[in-house]
Amino acid sequence: MFTDMTMFTDMTPPLVTAARATAAATGFAHSSTDEVGRLLRTLVATIDDGVVAEIGSGCGVGTAWLASALRPDVSLVTVELDAERARRVAGLFARATAVTVLSGDWHQLRERAPFALLFGDGDRCKDEDLHPLLRRGGIVVLDDFTDPADWSDERRQGGDPLRDRWLSDPRYATTMVGVGLDKLTRASRAQALVATRL
Ligand SMILES: C[S@@+](CC[C@H](N)C(=O)[O-])C[C@H]1O[C@@H](n2cnc3c(N)ncnc32)[C@H](O)[C@@H]1O
Repeated sequence: MFTDMTMFTDMTPPLVTAARATAAATGFAHSSTDEVGRLLRTLVATIDDGVVAEIGSGCGVGTAWLASALRPDVSLVTVELDAERARRVAGLFARATAVTVLSGDWHQLRERAPFALLFGDGDRCKDEDLHPLLRRGGIVVLDDFTDPADWSDERRQGGDPLRDRWLSDPRYATTMVGVGLDKLTRASRAQALVATRL
């Protein structure tokens, strides 16, 4: 029996720590939380082959979590619109041969599809149809959802069309998972959407 759970709390991959340092030094507040990172790591560890993709590298935090559990026959490609951020992330992963960092708009990923897992974390990509990018059994992860239990009255009236669209899409088995608190406000519970292409 485990009596001291604190011994398990510091299992952060070193590249995650390095990416967080870059984010802090450059004032970038949109990196994935550890909860989302652990979800990414857990999912990517189930993939035996193929390509994993991330839209919106930011400072490389999500990239580092994904890269931390890549199996030998799995590669990772991440794309970042901001050239300076892309350059920094490329530097961070310079020695990681399985990781490719692209600079520019995410639509260039189309030529590398279909993906075994796609972390769609680049703002507007969530509004587009990501289906053509996924292989059968491929997993989509989207974060930055708010737990409906924490919706304001106004939000409750409007609902969340993106969430509804995914949860009712017959091409996917989809669920929402709790991933701690909102990364910016810490005032509401955050959720991530995980959808597996059927
Ligand atoms: C939420 S942050 C990404 C955080 C990162 N995925 C992580 O896990 O730490 C969103 C990033 O998407 C980038 N982005 C926005 N539009 C994009 C586009 N059209 N193509 C590629 N990246 C884009 C932004 O510059 C920003 O760095």
